[in-house]
Amino acid sequence: MTTIKADDYERIVFFTGAGMSAESGVPTYRGRGGIWNQYRWEEYACQEAFDDNPEKVLQFHELRRQSVLACKPHPGHFVVANLAKKHPGVAVVTQNIDGMHQRAGNFEVIEMHGSLWRVRCPIHGIADEPDEKYKSFRCEQCGNWLRPDIIWFGDMLNQDVIHEATRIIRQCDLFISVGTSGAVWPAAGFPKIAKEQGARCIEINPEANDMSSIYDENLREAAGNALPKLFE
Ligand code: APR
Repeated sequence: MTTIKADDYERIVFFTGAGMSAESGVPTYRGRGGIWNQYRWEEYACQEAFDDNPEKVLQFHELRRQSVLACKPHPGHFVVANLAKKHPGVAVVTQNIDGMHQRAGNFEVIEMHGSLWRVRCPIHGIADEPDEKYKSFRCEQCGNWLRPDIIWFGDMLNQDVIHEATRIIRQCDLFISVGTSGAVWPAAGFPKIAKEQGARCIEINPEANDMSSIYDENLREAAGNALPKLFE
């Protein structure tokens, strides 16, 4: 299998999706065991669902927080976290809301789809919510329901976050995608941007998808096996 010396590259982007956390025990969204096979996103992951029944949506997200906290980062998370600490040109762009990258090492991650660990009051803004249980479903100051600070189906993406992710990907010379089905835009277009910039593009995913042909190399392995071998 290919091995990579991180120092041979100036700017490295790890672009991760739900498959990055799968070996930690966090379910993916699609495919076998996928969250959207078990739960209808229309009832749990869109603004309309929250407006109809905020309590049900918050309970679902509280359950997700508990199940994520019961999981631990795997060796692949530690490879990425250690590289991010050592190499000034490493950036992590994730579609994941689970915070698993950060738990492997305290470093900055561009979170495209928000975070399970934040809530948003329409009046008092965003607050961190790092614990298993929400302190309260309602804002202590104004009584409004607190909405998970997550990009749900039908939501606008945070344009500042997308610009920052795109800017970084335009500069990279190595782009490594890990565990994404390439089904959700604009994230699905990121490998193409990297490729057009001339970056070496590597996909780590046990299964092929519509975006796989863009990559220079496809490593059909699980993240927790592939990442430690790639950067040994
Ligand atoms: N290692 C690497 N990849 C894996 C592993 C693993 N151990 N296990 C599964 N995968 C791959 C699957 O083959 C699949 O291609 O991870 C991918 C997971 O795909 P999705 O569940 O669609 O997750 P993702 O691409 O992150 O979804 C994007 O969709 O519902 C929204 O907002 C949600 O951020 C999410 C977005």
